Amino acid sequence: MGIPQPAFYIFKCEQSAPPGMPKPSCVTPQTQDLFQHLAQSLMKEGIIGTVQPIRSACMNRCSSGPVMLVEPGHTMYVGLTKEKIDRIIAEHIIGGNVVEEYVINSELWDAPISPAEMKKQMGR
Ligand code: FES
Repeated sequence: MGIPQPAFYIFKCEQSAPPGMPKPSCVTPQTQDLFQHLAQSLMKEGIIGTVQPIRSACMNRCSSGPVMLVEPGHTMYVGLTKEKIDRIIAEHIIGGNVVEEYVINSELWDAPISPAEMKKQMGR
């Protein structure tokens, strides 16, 4: 048997806007330890090997931050706190049920456009 691939990747946006920038961002002094909390909670549960937390750059949903994306599934969680992260791990990552109340509004996260379709729309 080979080395098992992770069951989940969790992309936690780690972008912080430079001081004075009007753009909201996912990392502020109040939220800067969320990635560490995510990694520690996965470790505490003993599932860090099969769930891979990844520090990501901006995913263009800054006004809903702090955000993180769970793959597979394209599930975008917004407005994160430590408590919400723990519930997502328990109910979604371990339990298999998406925590709908923390998922981004579908108007801000509609169905994806395939790259082939996008090329067609661009006339290329
Ligand atoms: S700063 Fe996190 S989505 Fe843009």
